Amino acid sequence: MRRAIPEEVSPHLNEAETLIYEVIQELNFLIQEIYPIALQEKGLQTTLREYIFEWEHRNDAMVNLTVQNERGLPLETEQAVYRVIQEALANIARHSRAKRADISLVYNHEVLQVMIADDGCGFDMNQKAKGMGFRSMRERISSIRGTLQVQSAPGQGTRLIIQIPTRNGTGD
Ligand SMILES: Nc1ncnc2c1ncn2[C@@H]1O[C@H](COP(=O)(O)OP(=O)(O)OP(=O)(O)O)[C@@H](O)[C@H]1O
Ligand SMILES: [Mg+2]
Repeated sequence: MRRAIPEEVSPHLNEAETLIYEVIQELNFLIQEIYPIALQEKGLQTTLREYIFEWEHRNDAMVNLTVQNERGLPLETEQAVYRVIQEALANIARHSRAKRADISLVYNHEVLQVMIADDGCGFDMNQKAKGMGFRSMRERISSIRGTLQVQSAPGQGTRLIIQIPTRNGTGD
């Protein structure tokens, strides 16, 4: 038989309930950040378009996304591409003063090529970078056996070229 909850306990329970609710909300947000469910549900192109829509809202630049021959790729690959584009857009927002960025995803038979180019200030590639952005992009892309190439020069904008093998290998 359950006993009634004593009156003096009730406010504490309410408080605990609110706290738990807030923690759940926060965890949901973090999980979404780390493991975007949208990718699985909507696919890469739609998820990217939604992200770009939000990004344009916060930044004074427009993004043109083109996708050729899209097809579903392993979640791990789509996640890596999504993350790297987020990181590239973060750089464009923070460093480039660009007015326009072009992102293209071209699904070839055995390779997905992703290009992210901006018309901003560019930078001197001989200067030693302080940040972690490019390093983490490289690590992500090489973990799925892809390559990342950066092209930039002062006054010339910045271009990232990513190539990812997409063949359904049954082993190396
Ligand atoms: N799109 C861009 N336009 C102009 N400069 C850029 C662009 N992307 C990167 N850079 C330059 O390259 C440097 C290295 O970028 P990276 O993302 O590795 O580090 P960060 O953005 O400085 O820091 P973090 O990404 O760790 O927060 C930047 O500090 C900036 O000078
Ligand atoms: Mg960065």
